[in-house]
Amino acid sequence: KRPAGAPDRALARPVTKVGVVGAGLMASQLALLFARRLEVPVVLTDLDQERLDRGVGYVHAEVDNLHAKGRIPADQAGRLKGLVTGSLTKDAFADADFVIEAVFEDLGVKRKVFAEVEEVVAQTCVLATNTSSLSITEMAAELRHPERVVGFHFFNPVAVLPLLEIVRGAATDDATLATAFAVGKSLKKSSVLVEDAPAFVVNRLLTRFMGEVIAAVDEGTPLEVADHALDSLGLPMTPFALLQLVGPAVALHVAETMHAAFPDRFSVSENLARLVAAGRPGVYGADFQIDPEARALFEGG
Ligand code: 3HC
Repeated sequence: KRPAGAPDRALARPVTKVGVVGAGLMASQLALLFARRLEVPVVLTDLDQERLDRGVGYVHAEVDNLHAKGRIPADQAGRLKGLVTGSLTKDAFADADFVIEAVFEDLGVKRKVFAEVEEVVAQTCVLATNTSSLSITEMAAELRHPERVVGFHFFNPVAVLPLLEIVRGAATDDATLATAFAVGKSLKKSSVLVEDAPAFVVNRLLTRFMGEVIAAVDEGTPLEVADHALDSLGLPMTPFALLQLVGPAVALHVAETMHAAFPDRFSVSENLARLVAAGRPGVYGADFQIDPEARALFEGG
């Protein structure tokens, strides 16, 4: 059955090569997913060789894990590794049909990335963004072909969580949207069409929830108490563990977007901002104990 709001699937264009802009953790997870499910070449690009090597290395290590767990046979593991490559230039996207960006959450940076990609790809190539909260319409506005831009928002861990928010910008055309839904289906995700509204649907709700937990700590509730207050609801992980999975910088960015859009409904925690400014990955250390330095930063306000 066609998902609500999805255009006729006959409009979808074939995808035979995928480009991923960025080689960070999210981009690398995406590269693996696309290679595994679409079985087409996937090229990662980033600014320096070290990041590229790390991104491709992540994919190879995850492929080895999947093989070790018996999820994929040896020949498929070898093929998958061969499908994912890195390139320092976006010229490698020249024959890609679908390019997804997962770079730093900044509208200017993402606009620049798409403008550069537009210089090398064919007119029919879809430009997808994994933005957590930025406007698809604004991201596409200055491009020559804004009709090929679509939001394609995954959830961490990408390999495990089934949901995919597909976002139609003001200019997105039916062929782009149909291709996005077809790709979502090949990736075995549950695609839903959402409005191009700040933080779309899931992050909008999650930010409210996380914001309340963080506010409780800001107001003096000990970290452990706030983090475990809802344990009996059977959530898959505690709020501060989720903050660590998502990354405090991403969570802060989404909170800022929501605060800018709805100042009376969303606040930005200064303590969270301090945690991010200090470059901490979260409040937990490697041993799953709350890190004393992170506690001091977080509770220090
Ligand atoms: N990468 C790849 N695979 C992972 C993984 C990761 N980071 N973490 C866990 N997995 C896999 C494991 O390998 C395991 O696979 P297997 O069955 O093949 O062995 C499977 O997931 C289950 O893992 P575990 O048994 O170790 O752990 P859990 O059962 O506790 O599940 C979890 C872990 C899936 C992370 C679960 O805790 C969960 O669903 N947490 C909530 C995550 C969530 O809400 N994410 C959304 C965040 S919002 C977001 O991402 C949007 C962004 O814009 C901010």
